[in-house]
Amino acid sequence: MTVKPIVLDILPTDLDHARLPKHIAVIMDGNGRWAKRRGLPRIMGHQRGVDTLKDLLRCCRDWGIPALTAYAFSTENWGRPLEEVEFLMTLFERVLRRELREMMEENVRIRFVGNLEALPPSLQDEISRSMQDTQTNTGIQFTVATNYGGRQEIIQCCQAIATQVKQGLINIEDIDESVFEGYLYTTGIPHPDLLIRTSGEMRLSNFLLWQLAYAEIYVTQTLWPDFNREEFHQALLAYQQRERRFGKI
Ligand code: FPP
Repeated sequence: MTVKPIVLDILPTDLDHARLPKHIAVIMDGNGRWAKRRGLPRIMGHQRGVDTLKDLLRCCRDWGIPALTAYAFSTENWGRPLEEVEFLMTLFERVLRRELREMMEENVRIRFVGNLEALPPSLQDEISRSMQDTQTNTGIQFTVATNYGGRQEIIQCCQAIATQVKQGLINIEDIDESVFEGYLYTTGIPHPDLLIRTSGEMRLSNFLLWQLAYAEIYVTQTLWPDFNREEFHQALLAYQQRERRFGKI
């Protein structure tokens, strides 16, 4: 007897389509440990992590979740060994070049958020090209946080608003949440409803500090390269069991 693999290409019946998160953020943690456990160099974990991300993006599309944001590289990740940093920069560039055609065919809109000017120029070129080419795509909204830091994002908002105040373009008393949000890297993208973090760490790690204020958080022990549709299903089941009160009773 052959065992049929679980494909999960349509929304599992125990999930309520009407109550799916509209936007999911992921901290893709555990690539290094995944590789180490197999006696492989850490970079192999990142390489495998790309396949996981690609399948999650497809799964969001298949199940009707309109937006996904992934934390690919933090402002703190520059402190890793040079060869790992260089590998990651090359990987991002290679993946973007390789996947652009498919993203166009699948109607994906890709955006990068973070301090992009500090990235290698050839990667900046690929990023600009992919954002430009996909900007009118109306399918899943895919955001990649690269050289991203939540504190840095908030500071640059403050600097931009302070400049406007100094130039007499904004009154201090008019600064409110919606004005502030206009200066975030993610302006125009709705805040995530659910944050998924793999590999068991219970931290935000400077990711979307403003935007995640009311997100539900789901942490799994699974390492990122092993995260799959069944795991994603479990995360969504847990999300649908939560009662979201947004500070009210
Ligand atoms: C964290 O695991 C993972 C990263 C810092 C890199 C994640 C990047 C990818 C999966 C590539 C995505 C590609 C594109 C184009 C968006 P870790 O190295 O901290 O793992 P560890 O905690 O086990 O050491």
